[in-house]
Amino acid sequence: MNSKELYSVRMRASFLGQHISGAERILQKEDIPKVLLELYKRPSKFDELVLTIEKLSSVKVIEKALSIYSYDFKSLEDARKFAIELLEKSGVSQSCAKFAIELLSRGASPDFKNMRGAALMDPQSCKRLEKDPFRGVRTVKVDWLSRSEIKKTLLKRSIKREYLKRLPDALALATKNIHCGVLAELCWSDDPEYETGYIASPLLGYVRIKPMKQKGDPKGGRVYFVSKEKLEDIVSCLEKLPILIKSL
Ligand code: COA
Ligand code: AMP
Repeated sequence: MNSKELYSVRMRASFLGQHISGAERILQKEDIPKVLLELYKRPSKFDELVLTIEKLSSVKVIEKALSIYSYDFKSLEDARKFAIELLEKSGVSQSCAKFAIELLSRGASPDFKNMRGAALMDPQSCKRLEKDPFRGVRTVKVDWLSRSEIKKTLLKRSIKREYLKRLPDALALATKNIHCGVLAELCWSDDPEYETGYIASPLLGYVRIKPMKQKGDPKGGRVYFVSKEKLEDIVSCLEKLPILIKSL
């Protein structure tokens, strides 16, 4: 996309030395002031808030996001069993699917805390592939071509308004991950109040699963299953390639 110059705008905020909020957009220059204010208002409190504006040299446009499916379960056990089945269908061995869920439950960082990004895992040997297991890898530079249209469409498709705060960002991120070559993604939030997680894969799309954790649990994270041979290209794509997604 090169008709207009585009910029990556990113916000991160910390409180008492902990990262508490992060968000990003890709937009035209004239929209930057409005979005800076919006991102500034996002965290309810902070000690430090960093806003970054970076001009992008080129942006790839993806026509369609992953298709969305939603499943609710009565128990955490049933929900996680379903998640394991979906990971197996996506090419992950059952033992690695189980291991990944245990990893996020206990805190995937070596100090048993949440990581600052996603863990990378070989889908057959379960070997961790990221350079820094405290940090992991972060997917950045991804957004919707028209965020307001996406929100309207999600509402029309009976997605509850309460999910609009997270779903557009999580779906965009997962769509980019799969586009970059991630075989399957497992995610649930570190927000103690948010129990819905998801599995994403090229075959299955974006499958929301509730609950993936108990309410009140502060543990969360992401595991990207990737093949070792493609590791470098995938990480470079996740961290560097700017992507805009056109439609649902
Ligand atoms: N979690 C924890 N710490 C984070 C973080 C995150 N998501 N993002 C940034 N940090 C902290 C880390 O300490 C990081 O240092 P590190 O690279 O050694 O880990 C430091 O901030 C600087 O990070 P950097 O990558 O330079 O931040 P950035 O200014 O480029 O912004 C964000 C990146 C914040 C936009 C991105 O990480 C993010 O959170 N994007 C939104 C993802 C999203 O939409 N999630 C919602 C899905 S529901
Ligand atoms: P969240 O969905 O924002 O609650 O984040 C859940 C977990 O995903 C965090 O604890 C991190 O481990 C990881 N994470 C957060 N942001 C990113 C990102 N941009 N890319 C990859 N992993 C992330």
